[in-house]
Amino acid sequence: MLLLDRQDRVPAERDPVGDVRAAARWVGEHALTRAFFEHAARSGELFARIDCDPALRADPYPAYEELRALGRLVPGRVVSATTDHALTTALLRHPDVRVGAGLRDLPGPLGALGRWGTDPWATGPIDPPSLLAIDGVDHARLRRLVNRAFTARQVRAQEDLVTATAERLLDRIERAGAERTDLVDAYAAQLPVAVIGAILGVPERDHRQLRAWGNSAASLLDPGLRWGRYRRASTAVRAMHRWVTAHVEAKRRDPGDDLLSQLALLDGDGDDAVLTDLELRAVALLVLAAGFETTVNLISNAVVLLDGHRDQRERVLAEPDLWAGVVEETLRFDPPVQNSLRVVPRDLEVDGVAIVGGTPVLLFLAAANRDPAVFDDPQVFDVARPNANAHLAFSSGAHYCLGAALARAEARIALQMLHERFPDLRVDGAPRRRETRVLRGFERLPVAPGRVAARA
Ligand code: HEM
Repeated sequence: MLLLDRQDRVPAERDPVGDVRAAARWVGEHALTRAFFEHAARSGELFARIDCDPALRADPYPAYEELRALGRLVPGRVVSATTDHALTTALLRHPDVRVGAGLRDLPGPLGALGRWGTDPWATGPIDPPSLLAIDGVDHARLRRLVNRAFTARQVRAQEDLVTATAERLLDRIERAGAERTDLVDAYAAQLPVAVIGAILGVPERDHRQLRAWGNSAASLLDPGLRWGRYRRASTAVRAMHRWVTAHVEAKRRDPGDDLLSQLALLDGDGDDAVLTDLELRAVALLVLAAGFETTVNLISNAVVLLDGHRDQRERVLAEPDLWAGVVEETLRFDPPVQNSLRVVPRDLEVDGVAIVGGTPVLLFLAAANRDPAVFDDPQVFDVARPNANAHLAFSSGAHYCLGAALARAEARIALQMLHERFPDLRVDGAPRRRETRVLRGFERLPVAPGRVAARA
C-alpha cells in the first residue's frame, strides 16, 4: 500500500521518504550481499574473489579459466557459477529459468524490508518492471512494444544518423587538433547517446545530463555496492524518473515520430491501458541507458584491442569488410557485459547438469565466450575468426539484447570511420577502466589521433 501511495505523484527533488527507502534497500540488497561476498572471497571462493578483488577485476580472464577447470557448474555458498558455453546457452533459453529474483521476493524480514524499500520513483535497470527483471507474458508484452523501433529495417535507416553523427564528432576532434584526446569523452560516449537520443526523441540539450545520470545508474547492475556509490546511483535514477515523466508529458502534448511519443500515446493507468506509467518509465529508462552505457564500452574496448594488435589493425584498414569481424571478435574477447544472473526455480536437469531448485546461477558470458569447446585458440584475438559471432555477449533466449543490431551497426561504423580518418591513431597514456564490474569498459581512454588521412 505504501508503494501505491506514491504511484501517481511525482516526488520533489528533495525526497526524504525516498531517501529512507533507498537506505533500507541498500542494507538488504547491497550491504548484506557485500558481507556475504567478502566472507566467501576470504574463504577462497573464486567467483566471490572475481567480484571483490580489484586486481581480478582489472583482468578477470585468468580467473575465469581457473573457474572453468573446476567444472561446468561450480557450486558456491551464495550462488553457483558457470563458464560453460553450452550450459549458459541452455540456461538462458530454458523456459522455466527466471531472471534473478529481488529482495522483495524473499520470505521473512528481508523480503519485508525489500518490499518496504521498493519505490516506484526509483526503480532501476534490474528492478521490475524493467525488461531485465521480468519474465513470461508481461515481459513478452513490453518487449513487443519496444521491439518495433529496433527491427533490421529501422536499424538500416538509423545507420545514416550514426554516420552523420560520427562525421560531426570526428570533424570536431580534427578541428581541435589536440595532440591528445580522451576518446571516451570526445567520441565513444557521445555517439551512442546522440543515436539513442534521436530514436527516443530526446532534445540534444539534455544529452550531457543523461549521460552523467546513466553513468551513475550503471553501477546498479553490480551487487554489493558501497553506500556512497549506491546513493549516487539511486539519486541519478530518481532524477531520470522525474525527467522521463516531464518528457512524456511534453510528448503527449506534442508527439513526434520517435519511440517515446509512440509509447506515451499507449500508456495510462486505466483498465484498458496497454502500458502503465511505471512500465513506461521503466522501458524508457532501460532503453535509454542500455543504448549508451554498453556501446561506449564496445567501441573503446575495440580501440584498445586494435592498438595492442597492430598487425590486425593494418589488415582491417586494407580489408574494410573485416570491420564487422572486429566488432564480433571484440564482443567475444572482451565483452561490455561480463555476466548475468538466472534462478533455477525447481530441480532441473539442464544440458545434462542436475541443478537444485532455488539455485541462483551466475552466468559468466565473458568466460563462455572463451570456451575451448566452441572457439579454437580462444585466448587469441583474431578479427577474422570465422565463428566469432557464436559469442554470448548479447545473451540468448527471451532476454536477448534488443539493441544488438543497432549496437553492431554503431560500433562498426564508429570504428571504421575513426580509424580511416586517423590511420595512425594510438593509445597515448594509461587508459582507466570503469569501476563497474558487470559492465566492462573504459572511463578514460587517452589517444593521440595523429595524422589526418587525405580525403578522396
Ligand atoms: C555493445 C552493446 C550492447 C551489449 C553488449 C548489450 C548486452 C545486453 C545483454 C547481455 C542483455 C541481456 C541481459 C540478460 O540476459 O540478463 C541485453 C538486454 C537488453 N539490451 Fe543490450 N546490449 C548492448 C546494446 C544495447 C543497445 C544499443 C540497446 C538499445 C537500444 C540495448 C537494449 C537492451 C534492452 C532493452 C535489453 C533488455 C531485453 C530484455 O530483457 O528483453 N542494448 N543487452
